[in-house]
Amino acid sequence: MDKMMRAVEISQPGGPEVLVPVERPVPVPGADDILIRVAFAGVNRPDALQRAGAYKAPPGASDLPGLEAAGEVVAVGAAVSRFSVGDRVCALLPGGGYAEYVTTPAAHALPIPEGLDLRAAACLPETCFTVWSNVVMRGGLTGGERFLVHGGSSGIGTTAIQIAAALGARVFATAGSAEKCAVCEKLGAERAINYREADFVEVLRAEGGADVILDMVGGSYIARNVKALADDGRLVQIAFLESPKAELNFAQVMLRRLTITGSTLRPQSDAAKARIAQALEAEVWPMVKAGRLEPVIDSAFPLERAADAHALMESSRHIGKIVLDVAP
Ligand SMILES: NC(=O)c1ccc[n+]([C@@H]2O[C@H](COP(=O)([O-])OP(=O)(O)OC[C@H]3O[C@@H](n4cnc5c(N)ncnc54)[C@H](OP(=O)(O)O)[C@@H]3O)[C@@H](O)[C@H]2O)c1
Repeated sequence: MDKMMRAVEISQPGGPEVLVPVERPVPVPGADDILIRVAFAGVNRPDALQRAGAYKAPPGASDLPGLEAAGEVVAVGAAVSRFSVGDRVCALLPGGGYAEYVTTPAAHALPIPEGLDLRAAACLPETCFTVWSNVVMRGGLTGGERFLVHGGSSGIGTTAIQIAAALGARVFATAGSAEKCAVCEKLGAERAINYREADFVEVLRAEGGADVILDMVGGSYIARNVKALADDGRLVQIAFLESPKAELNFAQVMLRRLTITGSTLRPQSDAAKARIAQALEAEVWPMVKAGRLEPVIDSAFPLERAADAHALMESSRHIGKIVLDVAP
């Protein structure tokens, strides 16, 4: 077993250029953990927030960025029975994915879904955990309801569209260009709204309002989301790309029985993440097997070029996921 590994660290808070290749000791799995030799690691917007100094790693987590990966199990902790050395897995990570080896609780790992290669599987955990826990477990979306996701062409958005469509919901999405809107509709959105040209509030109200909205924009979108909700609608906030602050008439929440909620995944307990993993294996992995959910991969970069991957992500030119080839 190697003692040292290649990794990319955040040398100081800042722009993409602060991501630098380094050598680090291979991490040692705890009793409930597995050690994964990483083949591919997904890149996510929260990695860029962490790099900029705006999203701290939780206590005990690796300081290296990287919230998801796929690869081979090369060691297991004393209390782990679910996986064995040699198994191929994809996993949600507390951090540390931008490296050749990473540890994570075994309960946060899942088998590679049938029909997917390792690169595609590396793009599943962060978006699937986030979308399922927020849209279904928190937002309560069910078949036949109207669902609106903002940032429809993002990693989160492309996953949310496919999962909601597979559940039998009527799916609406917003995105910032005609090309992005076309992708959203190809993935299963009944209507993608180019927010530079049309008002999503008008579109949704004409349809009777959204039952669930998944929002990452915040700011001026918050009051507009409330207007776009149907009676008993649920607004689920997962980020605030514009602003976390807004002025809102809360009478609407009371009179139309609305729910405003939200969550972040990373600080949740290991047990909470394990419950989401179980739900994914039962409900979402069959969608992958049936061809209803497939990660949309925009581009891949070698691990050492993580800075270029972040620059692309922050340009918002990408559609879907960006992935790092660590040791394919
Ligand atoms: N709460 C959680 O647990 C959790 C977990 C994972 C991710 N997230 C959040 O979810 C969001 C998506 O993550 P991701 O990894 O899928 O990122 P991503 O692929 O980079 O997507 C972000 C998208 O948001 C849109 N956007 C950017 N700035 C915007 C603005 N000011 N107003 C409106 N739209 C804007 C862009 O599309 P357009 O060109 O269409 O504007 C961009 O494609 C991020 O904000 C991330 O922090 C939250």
